[in-house]
Amino acid sequence: MASRMAFRPQALPCFSCPSKRRNARSPRVSMASTVGSSSSSAVSNKVETPKKPFSQQDVHSQVTHSLPPQKIEIFKSLEDWAENNILVHLKPVEKCWQPQDFLPDPSSEGFYEEVKELRERSKEIPDDYFVCLVGDMITEEALPTYQTMLNTLDGVRDETGASPTSWAIWTRAWTAEENRHGDLLNKYLYLSGRVDMKQIEKTIQYLIGSGMDPRTENNPYLGFIYTSFQERATFVSHGNTARLAKEHGDLKLAQICGIIASDEKRHETAYTKIVEKLFEIDPNGTVLAFSDMMKKKISMPAHLMYDGRDDNLFGHFSAVAQRLGIYTAKDYADILEFLVTRWKIGDLTGLSGEGNKAQDFVCTLAPRIRRLEERAQARAKQAPAIPFSWIYGREVLL
Ligand SMILES: [Fe+2]
Ligand SMILES: [Fe+2]
Repeated sequence: MASRMAFRPQALPCFSCPSKRRNARSPRVSMASTVGSSSSSAVSNKVETPKKPFSQQDVHSQVTHSLPPQKIEIFKSLEDWAENNILVHLKPVEKCWQPQDFLPDPSSEGFYEEVKELRERSKEIPDDYFVCLVGDMITEEALPTYQTMLNTLDGVRDETGASPTSWAIWTRAWTAEENRHGDLLNKYLYLSGRVDMKQIEKTIQYLIGSGMDPRTENNPYLGFIYTSFQERATFVSHGNTARLAKEHGDLKLAQICGIIASDEKRHETAYTKIVEKLFEIDPNGTVLAFSDMMKKKISMPAHLMYDGRDDNLFGHFSAVAQRLGIYTAKDYADILEFLVTRWKIGDLTGLSGEGNKAQDFVCTLAPRIRRLEERAQARAKQAPAIPFSWIYGREVLL
């Protein structure tokens, strides 16, 4: 382990926090916060002024409404199409799994025994895995931010909160499905007794307060390219936490992560289908949007996370996820390559000069990312161990 190469998140597109930070800062909420100086939550009610009262990470200059009105009309004309082609990827509530299906039943006689078994199984799982599972859970728990993000998109937003358009129905029902992910992971982690729930809960509160900066510009082209990428990224990452849970002998946890991954896959199918349709209607505009998103780099939804202590919490969490193979730079390149193939970018014809350049850019980007990653790995120094408040300040190798 000592010779392990350090992962440098800032060198990689997938984990980069905004690379061109400007002076535009995210709206801050000044919060009187209680942050324990000790690694134990048992003494965390000791009041201290944190070094940074809220997430101090800057966001990019805010670009808004970049899609011209005539193109927004495309989404109105796709209402019926979305009803027949996208809403079919939602599952009726009665057919959906619920978190309770995978957790000890609090009303049953065997509840305590089941909890005991869950805790026994979780003892076999190492801390670094828990850091990743907690990071994934926190990401899922910031769901209000993602519903907000979808409702920033022109032409598809839920205008009333109960809008009957296909786009609004999708967004609400998608959110309702996603809501089970954070619930299930949160309850599992609570019962495991392995993690500092209060620190985790604070991180969630900070994160929802900070929002996200996906740079999708109220533009549904950019928005749906972003969500296509993200759903696949979460499919990959939950799939890997499932695989590792199995390796650590916790088949129930493997099932939990696996069932979440299967939802993400279904969502990926829906979002990539929307973008496929955009490529059919407007290949030039869509390839420009795809290239634009990839040039900006797809920032992860939880990139503004903060726990009141670690100023580079997201970078550290990402580094552990990279080391354990839960979500890596290679995955980022693979997802990009998957989308290039899924949308048949290489076959697009009749593009403008700019469109041709965008096509070349996205088609050649994945190998370039892989080469950069190899070089970064070769240059990387020995990895330090970092304390994570989520596991009571125990140190984990990056
Ligand atoms: Fe999810
Ligand atoms: Fe998702």
